[in-house]
Amino acid sequence: MRITRWPTAAVLFAMAATAYAGDSSNDVPYPLPMPLMAVPQNLGAHVRADLLLKRMTQDEKLQFIHSEYQMSAVPGGGAGYIQGVPRLGIPDLNMVDSATGSGSTTQKSTTFPATIALAASWDPYLARDFGARIADQLREQGFGMGLGGGTNLAREPRGGRLFEYLGEDPVLAGEMLAARTIGTQSQQVIATIKHYVGNEQETGRQGGNSQIDERTLRELYLLPFEIAAKEARPGSVMCSYNRLNGTYACENTHVLTDVLKKDWGFQGQVQSDWGATHSTAPAINAGLDEEEDVGPTVYLTPDLVKQAIASKAVSQDRLDDMVRRKLYVMISTGVLDHPAQGGATIDFAKYNAFTQAAEEQSIVLLKNDNSQLPLSAPSLHKIAVIGAHADTAVLTGGGSGNTRDPVTGNFSGCGGLTFASSTGCGWWTNPWLKLNTPITQAIQQLAPSAQVSFAGNTDQTQPFRAYTQQEITQAATLASQSDVAIVVVAQPAGEDFGDLQSLSLANPSNQDQLVEAVAKANPRTIVIIESGNPVLMPWKDQVAAIVDAWYPGEGGGKAIANVLFGQVNPSGKLPVTFPVRDQDTPTWGTNGAFATDPVYSEKLDMGYRWYDANNITPLYEFGYGLSYTHFSYSGLTVEQGPGHTITASFTVRNDGRVAGAETAQVYLGVSYAGEPPRRLVGFQKVFLKPGQSQPVRVTITERAQSVWDTTHNDWAYVPGSAVYVGASSRDIRLQSR
Ligand code: BGC
Repeated sequence: MRITRWPTAAVLFAMAATAYAGDSSNDVPYPLPMPLMAVPQNLGAHVRADLLLKRMTQDEKLQFIHSEYQMSAVPGGGAGYIQGVPRLGIPDLNMVDSATGSGSTTQKSTTFPATIALAASWDPYLARDFGARIADQLREQGFGMGLGGGTNLAREPRGGRLFEYLGEDPVLAGEMLAARTIGTQSQQVIATIKHYVGNEQETGRQGGNSQIDERTLRELYLLPFEIAAKEARPGSVMCSYNRLNGTYACENTHVLTDVLKKDWGFQGQVQSDWGATHSTAPAINAGLDEEEDVGPTVYLTPDLVKQAIASKAVSQDRLDDMVRRKLYVMISTGVLDHPAQGGATIDFAKYNAFTQAAEEQSIVLLKNDNSQLPLSAPSLHKIAVIGAHADTAVLTGGGSGNTRDPVTGNFSGCGGLTFASSTGCGWWTNPWLKLNTPITQAIQQLAPSAQVSFAGNTDQTQPFRAYTQQEITQAATLASQSDVAIVVVAQPAGEDFGDLQSLSLANPSNQDQLVEAVAKANPRTIVIIESGNPVLMPWKDQVAAIVDAWYPGEGGGKAIANVLFGQVNPSGKLPVTFPVRDQDTPTWGTNGAFATDPVYSEKLDMGYRWYDANNITPLYEFGYGLSYTHFSYSGLTVEQGPGHTITASFTVRNDGRVAGAETAQVYLGVSYAGEPPRRLVGFQKVFLKPGQSQPVRVTITERAQSVWDTTHNDWAYVPGSAVYVGASSRDIRLQSR
């Protein structure tokens, strides 16, 4: 049984040790394990940035704070471009989207699993490698900056961009984001974290006003950014499209300057989302350092900024600060001295193997009645695979969080891995990803003597249309004649698609009917879900097993088959709550209508905290996921450390007969008005052979035991919190009292 473990690079260890010894930012609220810590702050880089700044002319400075958007004209097919200053040895900087791999519009790229899948691995070491491998490919394509790193929280489970993010918990999201960022920057690519902040839905996409009180902001929505900013020191923070409490995020002094730059000591640059700048002087003075424009109205052009300086609306010092920050980031990440050259021969097979391994760590086993899984190949003569183009493709997320064309680089004729459809080849709106080894073929390879048959929509020109009654009948007939029926369901979503209207499987519209018909025909029905959002499952009790594969990326076919046949023991856990009904979610209100200007009235009771606080039983709770083995927990001790730090120690044992990995989760019950019953404060994924046990120690800092005190505008320590250790947010195995 293969359990992939990502070894810790010795070099990172060495750097981390230095960081630990010599670093002043010791107020990291939720520290990553030592080997994952970021490189120390590079003081020399500040000195060099200053020296370069002094030698730049005003015009050179002005060209350094604004990127024009002409996708096709951007070198390498990127999303933005800052012209360098050759006479000073400052290279051009090309940036590109990188949520699930390079978003180059002109170069072949690898499609990784969606970021929500990465969160489901609960493995910061994997997140580091995910960030590093994407960065490798970006450099090979000539990009020095990756716009991956989305981390808005899954407040709105129907959110159109949830697949680009890291789930509903700020500590899980923050730790995974920090590790990913460290990985990216370790390969000399500048990482961006986004979309800062309060950008949890697509409704009201351009300028909707998110209304969030300060305590909720600090304890939830700012927290993943804070963790990543302090632990990983990303070069860039991207401010978002929305307004926050009345002010556009890209001209919001409170979050850009007071919180990010002053409170957290962020030394990098703030860049706008594409077209999210709305003014010249107000934005610059609030803390925006670079505009990424999409035209036609542009605000940080050389002329406008010159005028603003001439009229004293903006100071020369502030312009210098903007440029200095960018220089510092380029120097400290290595991009200035080692610019990405591009044009490299890319070993796509190597990347493909990584995407498969990453997906194998991320798949969540939700249901497995009577150990129906893993399947045993010799006992199967006929296998039915049904639905979601599983004979050809998997789904990815649409929009800028997608890659463009993974293997052939053929963008004009619907070649390569993307589907042709009535709306075109469209990676943006039609994100079906053709696989070299689709699910059917991967299953056939693992069950060579079985007959593997496919039923469902085989028409690639209409990939989202409803199944016809004839197709449903054919699928049920095939299932009735097979030893096992594997039904794949899919939920498309993407940037600019709007939010989902419901968590019901919508597109094709009658997938629930398909599952029910197949389940009726064969009691051994296994459902595979491809989705970036939670999914409602009216058929849950009618099927034998359920596997969530998220948007699995280009290694998805093999990864899914490996989990089904037990080559890989699933170890993912949900980073989002799956509710029973839409009406149970915190944002549904009375009728599920979306507000353009959302009020975050549930405050801290978001995600699992909402279900816990309101005694609502979810379908599958946050942190939940099964394995082909089982784990026991024992011996919790809680020790007081220096200051108010406490350490929870306990042992996890693999009680089953196969190797497996378990993510032990530590929650805190903070007795303070407005706090939820439990909140995650730490976790550790342990990899155990049968019969093996491992001690786990999770340190809970004073800050992690604190609440945001609005009277004093500061964190306030709350003594005496209860410590809970669980296999999920509801499966609590040990507690301190
Ligand atoms: C998205 C960003 C993305 C940018 C550049 C915007 O529409 O919101 O996430 O990085 O486009 O493609």
